[in-house]
Amino acid sequence: MQSKKTEILIDPDVLSESHLSNDIHSRESHVNEIINCMRPITNGDKPVNCWLYGKSGAGKTASAIHALRKLTEEAGVRGVYVNCWEYPTFFSVLERTAMKLRMLGAEKLSTSFKLERLKRHISGERLVIVLDEIDKPPPKERHAILYNLSGLSKTGLICACNSQHAYFDLEDRIKSRLNPARIHFQEYTQNELFEILLQRARHALATDTCDEGLFHTIAALASGDARIAIHTLKNAAFLAEKDAQDVITNSHVMKAWNSANDLNKTHMVSKLTDHHRLLYELISKNNRILSGELWRQYIETCDSRKIRPIAVRTYSDYCNKLVEFGLVQAKRAAIQGKVREFTVAQ
Ligand SMILES: Nc1ncnc2c1ncn2[C@@H]1O[C@H](COP(=O)(O)OP(=O)(O)OP(=O)(O)O)[C@@H](O)[C@H]1O
Ligand SMILES: [Mg+2]
Repeated sequence: MQSKKTEILIDPDVLSESHLSNDIHSRESHVNEIINCMRPITNGDKPVNCWLYGKSGAGKTASAIHALRKLTEEAGVRGVYVNCWEYPTFFSVLERTAMKLRMLGAEKLSTSFKLERLKRHISGERLVIVLDEIDKPPPKERHAILYNLSGLSKTGLICACNSQHAYFDLEDRIKSRLNPARIHFQEYTQNELFEILLQRARHALATDTCDEGLFHTIAALASGDARIAIHTLKNAAFLAEKDAQDVITNSHVMKAWNSANDLNKTHMVSKLTDHHRLLYELISKNNRILSGELWRQYIETCDSRKIRPIAVRTYSDYCNKLVEFGLVQAKRAAIQGKVREFTVAQ
């Protein structure tokens, strides 16, 4: 007997990572703050650059893109979005910008020529560049990107990344030249996630296929992360369809959440630099490890792989970043001194 074909997901694209809805629930004030910072360029003045930071799934990228879209639609500002995770050098950021601005003949130029061409190309224009994942380029490249682009006239920069450290670690001359408004993105509350899910579900799911209580369940499970919440809803709908059910059930949600959570970890790990990833791998392999032993194993692995280790003073920043990303938990070890014990976050 053939199973009944049910349709729960009427528009899966609405639950995709890249979907940009018209409204951005609970982030209107952040979007307005970004727009207000950029507004001076509409009168030909210098804008206030922005530095967006906060945990994964808190809506930084979505808000930056919303602000860019509004500035383009309402004030005729040209906007370029660059994900520095994909373009982690000054050269590649310039190349991407040139491509987005449809600058012809800039392909083969050196970095300095490219920059000159960009200056000429945008003279008289008002431009906003989003530099997403700005903590990804190595420090030298990050400095070159920020120093040179913040020197462009009538150009506003919206930088985004998970932590503030990448900002505080900048050279003083770059910090003072950039001088951004720092905008914190708190994790979403359970109610905010509930509203976001409801709004997406209205367009993505057939009516009466998901009980309101399940949106609350997903919102609670997602711990403030909109990416996990939306992925969970999408996976749950897929599972319900696969089971030929007419509605999503609690068991679909629980299964879907497990895989969304794994996917999120993979997303976070993919954002790490090689050395962060190596430290994370060692913590995962050991399950539980003291900071001194982790350092020893790290040096040993660098030796055997013939890679240059990070300095010992950077080591603790790197470990803090893993904690900040929610990949690792740290607690003071039950022995004297400043020894910390690391475990993989569940
Ligand atoms: N307020 C919102 N309303 C609707 N969708 C949202 C909202 N906030 C985030 N999302 C969606 O959740 C997902 C994750 O959001 P986003 O990419 O903006 O997070 P992020 O803070 O940039 O995370 P990361 O640090 O991992 O890059 C995206 O699909 C985005 O469209
Ligand atoms: Mg992002």
